[in-house]
Amino acid sequence: MDSRQEWELSRSRRPLTQGYGVVQSELPPHEQGRIDPRDWFDDSQRCFEIEIGCGKGTFLMQEAPEHPEVNFLGIEKSPEFYRYAADRMRRRKIANVRVLHADAVEFIRFWCADEVAAVIHLYFSDPWPKTRHHKRRVIQDRTLVEFHRVLAPGGELRLVTDHAELWAWYEQHVARHEHLFERGPFDRVESASEGEIVGSNFERKYRREGRPFFGMVLRR
Ligand SMILES: C[S@@+](CC[C@H](N)C(=O)[O-])C[C@H]1O[C@@H](n2cnc3c(N)ncnc32)[C@H](O)[C@@H]1O
Repeated sequence: MDSRQEWELSRSRRPLTQGYGVVQSELPPHEQGRIDPRDWFDDSQRCFEIEIGCGKGTFLMQEAPEHPEVNFLGIEKSPEFYRYAADRMRRRKIANVRVLHADAVEFIRFWCADEVAAVIHLYFSDPWPKTRHHKRRVIQDRTLVEFHRVLAPGGELRLVTDHAELWAWYEQHVARHEHLFERGPFDRVESASEGEIVGSNFERKYRREGRPFFGMVLRR
C-alpha cells in the first residue's frame, strides 16, 4: 500500500467526519514538497476557495450549497470546532466542502501548493488585543506574502472584522503590500441572510451587540 492509499484508508476509518474531515497530523511531511488540497475533492478541477478559521462552519454551510461548482476548504485550529464543522457537512452531505484540522497559517506556508485558490475568506479572526499576542494574529507581513502565493492570479483575499484595532492592523499591513494586491470594498456575500454581510456565527453574535463591521477585498 502506498502512502496515498494509507492516507485514504485512515480517513475512511474516521466515523464522525467520514471523509469530510482532514487532520494535519495525517498530512505527508512538508519536507516532501507542497500538496494540492484540490485533490481531496471528488472533482479536483472545480474552482477552489479556502476559509481560514471556519469555526462551526456556518458560513460554509450556507455558501457551499449555493455554489456546487466550487470546492471549499475550511481550516480550523480548534479540535472541537473542527469536529463540529466537519460533522455538520457530513450530516448534510455537503459534498463540496472539506474541513482541515490545522493551523491555517502553517498549512498555507508549509504545505499548500502555489496558485490554487480563487478566494481566501478570513472573517472575524481572533483579534489578540494584547501587544505580546499580536504575533498570533493571522494577518502578518509574511502571511500576506504566502496568501499571495497561494491565490491564483486575480484571486481574492476577503477580510471582515468587527475589531477597530485589528482593522487598523490590517490597514497598516496591506499598505506595506500594495505591490501585491489591488484593494477594493467588501461586497456582501449573496448567500448571507437579509441584513448580513457574511452570515457567519460571529457576525450574528456581534450584530446583536450592535458592533460596526469593517471589510476589504484584496485582489492578486
Ligand atoms: C472568532 S472565531 C470566528 C469564526 C468564524 N469565522 C465566524 O465568523 O463565525 C475565530 C476562529 O478562528 C480559529 N482560528 C484562529 N486562528 C487560526 C489559525 N491560525 N488557523 C485556523 N483556525 C484559526 C479559531 O479557533 C476560531 O474558531
